[in-house]
Amino acid sequence: MNQPQTKHELVEEIRREHDELRELLGNIHHMLAKRLETVAGVSEKLASLGEHVETHFAGEETAGFFDDVVDCAPRLSDRIDALRTEHQQLLSVVRQLNDVASEGDGSSDWWQRLEAAFHDFSNKLMHHEGAENEILLEAYTDDIGAAD
Ligand SMILES: [Fe+2]
Ligand SMILES: [Fe+2]
Repeated sequence: MNQPQTKHELVEEIRREHDELRELLGNIHHMLAKRLETVAGVSEKLASLGEHVETHFAGEETAGFFDDVVDCAPRLSDRIDALRTEHQQLLSVVRQLNDVASEGDGSSDWWQRLEAAFHDFSNKLMHHEGAENEILLEAYTDDIGAAD
């Protein structure tokens, strides 16, 4: 069993996961732009992106981050609620992306639709993660930095 994390460890863990996700999105962007993969390979990579995102969201919702922010800074609870709602929306967008991927016929029309669907998801996810990074800063540095 894992020991409970300190706040510092919690923040570091979320930041690390956000960096990993950003890198993964960058790799997929490159793969789609250059059309480097087979149809089956693309479908597999996007399915694994969907799983990665789902695990990441579940971790944020259950392993401390969201609840801890609300405990530390109750004024941020509306923003945490909004982030939970966004998780549901993003999961639905990533499912649509996976549907497009699995209908793949390798045509150039399909590649374009896939790229457009991926960019839509990627932009929404990066916006969401950015809002979380801001919340981390606000929740955990205001207490320390408010002196002057
Ligand atoms: Fe999130
Ligand atoms: Fe996140």
